[in-house]
Amino acid sequence: MTVTIREAVDADWEEAGRICYDAFATLADAHGFPHDFPTVAAAAEPIRWMINHPQFHGVVAEDGGRIVGSSFMDERSIISAIGPVSVDPGAQNRQVGHALMAAMLDRAAERRAAGVRLLQLAYHNRSLSLYAKLGMDVRGSFAAMYGEPVGVALPGYDVRAATCDDEPAMNDLCLRVHGHTRAGEVSDAIESGGAMVVERLGRITAYTTGVTYFTHSVAETSDDLAALIGAARDYGTPGFLVPLANTELFRWCLHHGLRVFFVLNMLTVGLYQEPRGAYMPSVGY
Ligand SMILES: CC(C)(COP(=O)(O)OP(=O)(O)OC[C@H]1O[C@@H](n2cnc3c(N)ncnc32)[C@H](O)[C@@H]1OP(=O)(O)O)[C@@H](O)C(=O)NCCC(=O)NCCS
Repeated sequence: MTVTIREAVDADWEEAGRICYDAFATLADAHGFPHDFPTVAAAAEPIRWMINHPQFHGVVAEDGGRIVGSSFMDERSIISAIGPVSVDPGAQNRQVGHALMAAMLDRAAERRAAGVRLLQLAYHNRSLSLYAKLGMDVRGSFAAMYGEPVGVALPGYDVRAATCDDEPAMNDLCLRVHGHTRAGEVSDAIESGGAMVVERLGRITAYTTGVTYFTHSVAETSDDLAALIGAARDYGTPGFLVPLANTELFRWCLHHGLRVFFVLNMLTVGLYQEPRGAYMPSVGY
């Protein structure tokens, strides 16, 4: 098998999307887990969006002119986030994933990204081993939580839609908790109407770019996060990600009837500091 890696172009999105769906569905079936992507379109549409987003980098792997895998990287902030990485089930375990990941890490090094991160399915030994072998460190585990919206309001925690005026305070909060901002995602989420903030005593104490699998939240306390979860109208599936180290928030979600879809591990290379506050990552980081 002679694999070549090239930049993804718009014409690739359908085939890359089909392979992404097949790769995750086959893996989930083999382990008795529900599918991450319910349909081919649910895998393909985000890939189309990423290929056409100027701050995402995508590559496909080809074998004899046929696409056998793809990988994408979010470059909107100083930390780059890899995902999804997928290889056609018939071509797996033959170094294609390694080549895709090496291309991502080389690109991040060339661009002098401060760090690179991703979340991987904890039940997939191969991806865990591949990423660790490539130099990534395991930082923690996260439960994807799904279910009916909790629909509770916490007295004193005013949750409202974020506006452009909130952007500096949101970025400052992320800087205080994580040591870096995620400004690109914050401005995208404000523009699309998905961002919310918590205000306590006239101060922004939490924000979310959306309480879902693909979005992130940063807060001063776990109660601030609970206020965001309580106000969100739809978590989608596989749901939003709760750090298992935050036992208080994890148990709060369970006591409010939410269920665990699966568990993921975060892996990082480069800049990383232990968060100084509460947070919920996206599937990127
Ligand atoms: C994860 C995935 C992209 C990896 O691609 P791949 O082409 O199958 O993997 P590769 O053959 O390139 O690499 C696998 C590596 O893990 C090693 N490995 C596999 N299983 C292992 C195990 N149980 N223990 C230790 N090492 C293991 C292999 O030896 C190989 O190491 P090497 O690169 O040093 O040779 C692919 O399997 C896939 O699409 N899976 C489904 C979707 C998915 O989970 N994507 C990742 C989401 S984060």
